[in-house]
Amino acid sequence: MSATALHAADTSARLTATALSYRYPDGTQALDDVGLAVAPGEIVAVLGPSGAGKSTLMRCLAGLHSPTSGTVWHDGTDLARLRGVARRRALARCGLVFQEFELVGPATALSNVLIGRLVHQPPVVSLLHLVRRADREIAVGALLRVGLEPQLRKRADTLSGGQRQRVAIARALAQQPDVLLADEPVANLDPRTAAAVVDQVVALAREENLATVLNLHDTGLATRIADRIVGLRAGRLAFDKPVAEVDAALLAELYAGEEQ
Ligand SMILES: Nc1ncnc2c1ncn2[C@@H]1O[C@H](COP(=O)(O)OP(=O)(O)OP(=O)(O)O)[C@@H](O)[C@H]1O
Ligand SMILES: [Mg+2]
Repeated sequence: MSATALHAADTSARLTATALSYRYPDGTQALDDVGLAVAPGEIVAVLGPSGAGKSTLMRCLAGLHSPTSGTVWHDGTDLARLRGVARRRALARCGLVFQEFELVGPATALSNVLIGRLVHQPPVVSLLHLVRRADREIAVGALLRVGLEPQLRKRADTLSGGQRQRVAIARALAQQPDVLLADEPVANLDPRTAAAVVDQVVALAREENLATVLNLHDTGLATRIADRIVGLRAGRLAFDKPVAEVDAALLAELYAGEEQ
């Protein structure tokens, strides 16, 4: 795909953004005519300098921001047109690993992951904290898959950074999503732990055939794990290329003028 905006939903994609623009209330144009399509099982890494609009893009894709113009399509449905239960269902199919979605510190790792299951229940059930056995099994399964069995009943605020990050990933996986959106899921981890956690996310995403978009600061890590790289610069799509076509010169141009 060339670095131009898509203007119609790609029907083979699970997640599409067409001519997506987003302006914050203070007038900052964070995204300008961005197009993106992600197929099931595809891993897309978003790269770009600080302030390029990466987090804004993730928030639009996740339905947390409504685009100023343009459209986000989940499975061919315009997210902005969905209301009520239909919207809740669509968003429940979207697993998020965002830094600001902190864990509940005093709650156990397992309880934090069970929160991922509540999105599939009517609000009244969530409010009553009724936990079905099936949900518990899925939550435990997600924690096992990220290697946190021994920490299952530990309080989240007693876990290490890497363990907490893996709880957040388990919570997103427990949602059994079709789409996985991760905004700097391994920021603040040492490089080795960061790489191990990202490897784990990618392996699980491939296993589950999730359409996956990751924002990563580490270009080396991104080019190692992604199928495609999307370069964002000043809110615009700089490039969208298979990883084999992304070389050091292209990355240098993307980050030109930035301390990396
Ligand atoms: N709430 C907000 N109100 C106004 N402007 C905002 C707001 N949040 C972000 N911006 C601006 O929008 C632009 C894109 O921000 P965004 O957070 O999407 O960048 P980013 O690529 O994620 O950067 P970083 O790599 O530093 O996380 C920036 O110019 C930023 O200052
Ligand atoms: Mg950001």
